[in-house]
Amino acid sequence: MRLWICVVCCVLAVTGERYKPDWKSLDARPLPKWYDEAKFGLFVHWGVFSVPAFGSEWFWWNWLGALNPAYIGFMLKNYPPGFTYAEFAPQFNAQFFEPDVWAEVFEASGAKYVVFTTKHHEGFTNWGSPTSWNWNSVDNGPHRDLVGELGAAIRNRSLHYGLYHSLYEWFNPLYLKDKESGFKTQEFVYSKTLPELIDLVKRYNPELIWSDGDWEAPDTYWNSTDFLAWLYNDSPVKDVIVVNDRWGNGTYCKHGGYYNCADKFTPSTMPEHKWEKCNSIDTYSWGYRRNMKLSDLMDLPTIIKDLVFTVAYGGNYLLNIGPTSDGMIPAVFEERLRGIGAWLKVNGEAIYATTPWRVQQENATVPVWYTSKGTTVYAIFHTRPKQYSFELFSPVTSDTTVVTLLGSPEPLKWAPLHSSGLILLLPELPYTPAGAWTIKLNGVA
Ligand SMILES: *[C@@H]1O[C@H](CO)[C@@H](O)[C@H](O)[C@H]1NC(C)=O
Ligand SMILES: *[C@@H]1O[C@H](CO)[C@@H](O)[C@H](O)[C@H]1NC(C)=O
Ligand SMILES: *[C@@H]1O[C@H](CO)[C@@H](O)[C@H](O)[C@H]1NC(C)=O
Ligand SMILES: *[C@@H]1O[C@H](CO)[C@@H](O)[C@H](O)[C@H]1NC(C)=O
Repeated sequence: MRLWICVVCCVLAVTGERYKPDWKSLDARPLPKWYDEAKFGLFVHWGVFSVPAFGSEWFWWNWLGALNPAYIGFMLKNYPPGFTYAEFAPQFNAQFFEPDVWAEVFEASGAKYVVFTTKHHEGFTNWGSPTSWNWNSVDNGPHRDLVGELGAAIRNRSLHYGLYHSLYEWFNPLYLKDKESGFKTQEFVYSKTLPELIDLVKRYNPELIWSDGDWEAPDTYWNSTDFLAWLYNDSPVKDVIVVNDRWGNGTYCKHGGYYNCADKFTPSTMPEHKWEKCNSIDTYSWGYRRNMKLSDLMDLPTIIKDLVFTVAYGGNYLLNIGPTSDGMIPAVFEERLRGIGAWLKVNGEAIYATTPWRVQQENATVPVWYTSKGTTVYAIFHTRPKQYSFELFSPVTSDTTVVTLLGSPEPLKWAPLHSSGLILLLPELPYTPAGAWTIKLNGVA
């Protein structure tokens, strides 16, 4: 009998439904569970743009595409006439890059996944892509396989590894030729984009692909549904891979795996589809900027508030840092990351593997954001109340309800209010640089 069940299962698995290269079929694929449970990831933007490290990672485009006077002026003032963007690449030396030093910081932040730029819109690949001749990190710049080295260190610390990949390349002649044709020809897609995507998947077995740079052309130009059907049906990562929604003009917030929608997407009601908010500690740039000021950065309480809001509304939070071209994580970013980790060490059970509750936010004694796990509800707040008595309006308590403050062992005294809600007595709140605390309510509805 057992054997029979086994045989039947195997046959089903083999003949099992395959995803078709159309959005209806692809969109019906359930997201692998690890992603929703992870809640918090880090985004790392590193490339040749980290060498000029001025303005933003869109440096090349701002300089020679948009002809932005600030960038033109920066080049005139600091570089010899005729200096080309390609000449920045040899200075991308990564001389202090120790992958495990980064991975240790990432692990300490409490993040469960890391998404690394394999290739930004400049086209420089952070691995030895055979279709990016001399414009890759093995033949040029660091002379190292950055994608591979970082991946090994990240996995060694049991974090999930995701790859960012830009479909388009601002100045690639093949891309520009296809664009000229109104995207009727697909030479760039067949000789560059798809071979590179498939190479990345086969070499590095990513668990997430963060697609970008799609918007100028329709998904039919990128052949996105074909690629995704291969990824979901036949690739070595078919069971674990998670993708976002940037697969062609108009696909974002509509098709793919989870939705990024716009950068720094901040919904005002709970989205119906799994989503991710990506945000950057440096509010002006994703890549490292030497002209960054402390006042341009999100401070720790702001980051924690953004993370909590995102998780309460069912999203994942992807927080970005830009390392320097010589391979250092700027100390101020490291301090933020360790601060998040310290807060999550105490409050992580209110974040990881939670589900949104029936109420996301309410203005009780102070504003609170809710998350839940079964009949346990977490109320997270960012304002130190002026008094010890604290009211929550939405939870419905019972005689068996137990109320605690995360990080503090003693159960708190409480009493019900009306038909729902409770009043509780807070202990002295411990100091935390993150400026946020969690009340845990066991056994509420
Ligand atoms: C793997 O991680 C451990 C800590 O968990 C660390 O000591 C070791 O150096 C790492 N190995 C590599 C190859 O990164
Ligand atoms: C994408 O498509 C929209 C219409 O859906 C169009 O208005 C827009 O110009 C397109 N974007 C680009 C960058 O071509
Ligand atoms: C892309 O699309 C064409 C048909 O439009 C198809 O023949 C081809 O196999 C597709 N996939 C890849 C990965 O090239
Ligand atoms: C709580 O107060 C803030 C600030 O006044 C407001 O934006 C928010 O909508 C309020 N929340 C609810 C659920 O009423």
